Amino acid sequence: MTAFEPRVFSGVQPTGNLHLGNYLGAVSRFVPLQDQMPSVYCVVDLHAITVWQDPAELMRATREVTAAYLAAGVDPKKAIIFNQSQVKEHSELAWMFNCIARMGWLRRMTQFKEKAGKNAENASVGLFAYPNLMAADILAYRATHVPVGDDQKQHLELTRDIAQKFNNDYAERIVELGLGVTNPEPTPESPAELYFPLPEPLIAGPATRIMSLRDGSKKMSKSDPSDLSRINLNDDAETIAKKIKKAKTDPDALPSEVEGLKDRLEADNLVGIYAALAGTTKADVLKEYGGQQFSAFKPALSDLAVEKLAPMTGEIRRLVADPTAIDAVLKDGAERAAAIAEPVLHDVRRIFGFVEARFGR
Ligand code: TRP
Repeated sequence: MTAFEPRVFSGVQPTGNLHLGNYLGAVSRFVPLQDQMPSVYCVVDLHAITVWQDPAELMRATREVTAAYLAAGVDPKKAIIFNQSQVKEHSELAWMFNCIARMGWLRRMTQFKEKAGKNAENASVGLFAYPNLMAADILAYRATHVPVGDDQKQHLELTRDIAQKFNNDYAERIVELGLGVTNPEPTPESPAELYFPLPEPLIAGPATRIMSLRDGSKKMSKSDPSDLSRINLNDDAETIAKKIKKAKTDPDALPSEVEGLKDRLEADNLVGIYAALAGTTKADVLKEYGGQQFSAFKPALSDLAVEKLAPMTGEIRRLVADPTAIDAVLKDGAERAAAIAEPVLHDVRRIFGFVEARFGR
């Protein structure tokens, strides 16, 4: 092969309630991509169990994330939608990557340090190896483009490091088996033929980085103990209005220029949310609201949020009421996903030198 076929892969964890940050930062961005390249969108249930999950809640959340993909406009006829545990190749490749990635690489991961907290000795081994599973998700499809939030950038770099080490360690074997793809940018560290692409992150712009409504320095998160910190996709209009009303701000009026938002994290976040929901820029929002008080801006933001989110939240509610239909989407997606990942794992087993007594063709 002379070039990698472009393919998008991304995943969302089925933990807790979906919120505005998941929607603006991830799911809504999947929709335009499905028309540009073959796209694979995964509900990463294997990642979820790196920390304790109640089984019934995991099932609910898995179907809810699937419903959110659909309600946001991901088309299951175009894109592949499935849950990770149903395609065994993810786990298999993750194990192999456990043997490629180095302890030192994973020790540097800031997300592990944050999630494990003070009691890292008691964190699961899975939480530590989490980025290797993420690399396996992407590379089992030899995906070239990965839309993710800013917080996942380091994991994407690790994915590239794993791909590169594999390509290097097995360079001769890849050529010998005729499985190489011409390297667009060969260097002394990167051989002329590759098996895995080095996937490109498609990082969400600053307008889609949604922060907590209670603390503008923290990402909006389902694990924040305060429900006032986030807008859930299943909040009703009244709740949305209440949360925006209570959102932390400062006493000053809104500035007329984006520079005026510097060091005003909460104001910056609310203006960013408005811009993302309206599909404009912060500069445009400030052209309209510059000089106004939050007492005027917040009701406008609530109305916009309700107007934009209501149709989707309604659709999510309608979809989750019919789990049979959701599961049919996931089954079809898993079969199509497996059809891509199975031949990749077949190649990878051969590259490693596993005797393909059962899987050989
Ligand atoms: N780690 C990602 C997150 O928490 C979710 C994820 C898992 C992912 N596998 C992926 C994202 C592969 C992109 C590609 O947001």
